[in-house]
Amino acid sequence: MRLPISRLGLGLLLPLVAMWPAAAADVEAGKADFKKCALCHTTEAGKNKIGPSLFGIVGRKAGSVENFNYSEAMKNFGHTWDAATLDTYLTDPRATVPQTKMIFPGIKDEKERQDIIAYLETLK
Ligand code: HEC
Repeated sequence: MRLPISRLGLGLLLPLVAMWPAAAADVEAGKADFKKCALCHTTEAGKNKIGPSLFGIVGRKAGSVENFNYSEAMKNFGHTWDAATLDTYLTDPRATVPQTKMIFPGIKDEKERQDIIAYLETLK
Protein backbone atom coordinates (compact mmCIF):
# COMPACT_ATOMS: atom_id res chain seq x y z
CA MET A 1 0.00 0.00 0.00
CA ARG A 2 1.34 3.44 -0.87
CA LEU A 3 0.56 6.30 1.47
CA PRO A 4 0.21 9.73 -0.06
CA ILE A 5 3.04 11.89 1.29
CA SER A 6 0.58 14.37 2.82
CA ARG A 7 -0.72 11.63 5.13
CA LEU A 8 2.72 11.14 6.61
CA GLY A 9 2.60 14.77 7.63
CA LEU A 10 5.32 17.16 8.73
CA GLY A 11 5.48 15.52 12.16
CA LEU A 12 7.26 12.58 10.59
CA LEU A 13 9.24 14.39 7.92
CA LEU A 14 10.76 17.15 10.02
CA PRO A 15 12.65 14.91 12.44
CA LEU A 16 14.06 13.00 9.45
CA VAL A 17 15.33 16.22 7.91
CA ALA A 18 16.73 17.35 11.26
CA MET A 19 18.70 14.11 11.61
CA TRP A 20 20.34 14.47 8.21
CA PRO A 21 23.42 16.59 9.13
CA ALA A 22 24.22 14.25 12.02
CA ALA A 23 25.38 11.66 9.48
CA ALA A 24 28.46 13.76 8.64
CA ALA A 25 31.71 13.00 10.50
CA ASP A 26 32.03 14.98 13.72
CA VAL A 27 35.53 15.98 14.87
CA GLU A 28 34.40 16.81 18.43
CA ALA A 29 32.69 13.42 18.82
CA GLY A 30 35.82 11.80 17.39
CA LYS A 31 37.97 13.59 19.95
CA ALA A 32 35.74 12.20 22.72
CA ASP A 33 35.82 8.70 21.21
CA PHE A 34 39.62 8.92 20.99
CA LYS A 35 39.79 8.17 24.71
CA LYS A 36 39.57 4.50 23.64
CA CYS A 37 42.85 5.00 21.81
CA ALA A 38 44.49 7.32 24.35
CA LEU A 39 45.24 4.39 26.65
CA CYS A 40 47.96 3.49 24.16
CA HIS A 41 48.42 6.50 21.88
CA THR A 42 49.23 10.18 22.37
CA THR A 43 48.52 12.92 19.83
CA GLU A 44 51.82 14.66 20.62
CA ALA A 45 54.68 14.43 18.14
CA GLY A 46 57.41 12.04 19.29
CA LYS A 47 55.60 10.85 22.41
CA ASN A 48 54.91 7.12 22.27
CA LYS A 49 53.09 4.95 24.81
CA ILE A 50 52.22 1.29 24.22
CA GLY A 51 51.52 2.43 20.65
CA PRO A 52 53.25 5.08 18.52
CA SER A 53 52.28 8.76 18.60
CA LEU A 54 49.39 9.41 16.22
CA PHE A 55 50.48 12.98 15.51
CA GLY A 56 50.43 13.43 11.71
CA ILE A 57 49.11 9.90 11.18
CA VAL A 58 47.06 10.80 8.10
CA GLY A 59 49.58 10.89 5.24
CA ARG A 60 52.25 9.05 7.25
CA LYS A 61 53.71 5.77 6.06
CA ALA A 62 52.68 2.81 8.26
CA GLY A 63 55.33 1.75 10.74
CA SER A 64 57.50 4.83 10.28
CA VAL A 65 57.86 6.46 13.72
CA GLU A 66 61.61 6.19 14.24
CA ASN A 67 61.84 5.53 17.95
CA PHE A 68 58.92 3.07 18.09
CA ASN A 69 59.43 -0.69 18.07
CA TYR A 70 56.79 -1.89 15.58
CA SER A 71 55.86 -5.47 14.81
CA GLU A 72 57.34 -6.90 11.61
CA ALA A 73 53.75 -7.03 10.33
CA MET A 74 53.28 -3.26 10.68
CA LYS A 75 56.75 -2.48 9.29
CA ASN A 76 55.89 -4.54 6.22
CA PHE A 77 52.31 -3.30 5.82
CA GLY A 78 53.51 -0.95 3.09
CA HIS A 79 50.61 1.52 3.03
CA THR A 80 50.44 5.23 3.70
CA TRP A 81 47.62 5.95 6.14
CA ASP A 82 44.70 7.73 4.51
CA ALA A 83 41.02 7.79 5.43
CA ALA A 84 40.25 4.58 3.52
CA THR A 85 43.18 2.58 4.96
CA LEU A 86 42.42 3.82 8.47
CA ASP A 87 38.77 2.86 8.02
CA THR A 88 39.70 -0.73 7.10
CA TYR A 89 42.33 -1.00 9.84
CA LEU A 90 40.16 0.44 12.60
CA THR A 91 37.24 -1.81 11.68
CA ASP A 92 39.36 -4.89 12.33
CA PRO A 93 43.06 -4.28 13.06
CA ARG A 94 44.08 -7.94 13.12
CA ALA A 95 42.29 -8.80 9.88
CA THR A 96 43.96 -5.84 8.12
CA VAL A 97 47.47 -6.25 9.54
CA PRO A 98 47.72 -9.88 10.69
CA GLN A 99 50.01 -10.20 13.71
CA THR A 100 49.93 -6.51 14.54
CA LYS A 101 50.93 -5.70 18.12
CA MET A 102 47.89 -3.47 18.46
CA ILE A 103 45.63 -5.48 20.77
CA PHE A 104 42.35 -3.77 20.01
CA PRO A 105 39.15 -5.38 18.76
CA GLY A 106 38.31 -2.55 16.38
CA ILE A 107 35.46 -0.09 16.11
CA LYS A 108 32.45 -1.67 14.50
CA ASP A 109 30.26 1.45 14.54
CA GLU A 110 30.62 3.19 11.18
CA LYS A 111 29.76 6.68 12.50
CA GLU A 112 32.16 6.38 15.44
CA ARG A 113 34.95 5.28 13.08
CA GLN A 114 34.33 8.19 10.73
CA ASP A 115 34.34 10.62 13.68
CA ILE A 116 37.67 9.26 14.95
CA ILE A 117 39.21 9.44 11.47
CA ALA A 118 37.98 13.03 11.09
CA TYR A 119 39.68 13.81 14.41
CA LEU A 120 42.90 12.04 13.35
CA GLU A 121 42.96 14.24 10.25
CA THR A 122 43.26 17.32 12.50
CA LEU A 123 46.44 16.03 14.19
CA LYS A 124 49.03 17.90 12.20
C1 HEC B 1 45.93 -1.56 23.76
C2 HEC B 1 46.71 -0.53 23.13
C3 HEC B 1 46.14 0.13 21.88
C4 HEC B 1 44.91 0.69 21.71
C5 HEC B 1 43.75 0.76 22.69
C6 HEC B 1 44.92 1.28 20.38
N1 HEC B 1 46.12 1.05 19.77
FE1 HEC B 1 46.70 1.65 17.90
N2 HEC B 1 48.48 0.71 18.12
C7 HEC B 1 48.90 0.05 19.26
C8 HEC B 1 50.18 -0.58 19.01
C9 HEC B 1 50.99 -1.41 20.00
C10 HEC B 1 50.52 -0.24 17.68
C11 HEC B 1 51.75 -0.73 16.90
C12 HEC B 1 51.28 -1.93 16.09
C13 HEC B 1 52.36 -2.79 15.47
O1 HEC B 1 53.54 -2.44 15.50
O2 HEC B 1 51.96 -3.84 14.94
C14 HEC B 1 49.42 0.56 17.15
C15 HEC B 1 49.39 1.09 15.88
C16 HEC B 1 48.41 1.94 15.40
C17 HEC B 1 48.43 2.60 14.12
C18 HEC B 1 49.54 2.50 13.08
C19 HEC B 1 50.57 3.56 13.46
C20 HEC B 1 51.74 3.71 12.54
O3 HEC B 1 52.63 4.50 12.90
O4 HEC B 1 51.80 3.08 11.47
C21 HEC B 1 47.29 3.34 14.02
C22 HEC B 1 46.86 4.20 12.88
C23 HEC B 1 46.58 3.16 15.26
N3 HEC B 1 47.27 2.29 16.07
C24 HEC B 1 45.38 3.78 15.57
C25 HEC B 1 44.63 3.54 16.72
C26 HEC B 1 43.37 4.17 17.01
C27 HEC B 1 42.71 5.24 16.15
C28 HEC B 1 42.91 3.63 18.18
C29 HEC B 1 41.59 3.91 18.88
C30 HEC B 1 40.41 3.68 18.09
C31 HEC B 1 43.93 2.69 18.64
N4 HEC B 1 44.96 2.67 17.74
C32 HEC B 1 43.86 1.97 19.83
C33 HEC B 1 48.21 -0.05 20.45
C34 HEC B 1 46.90 0.35 20.66
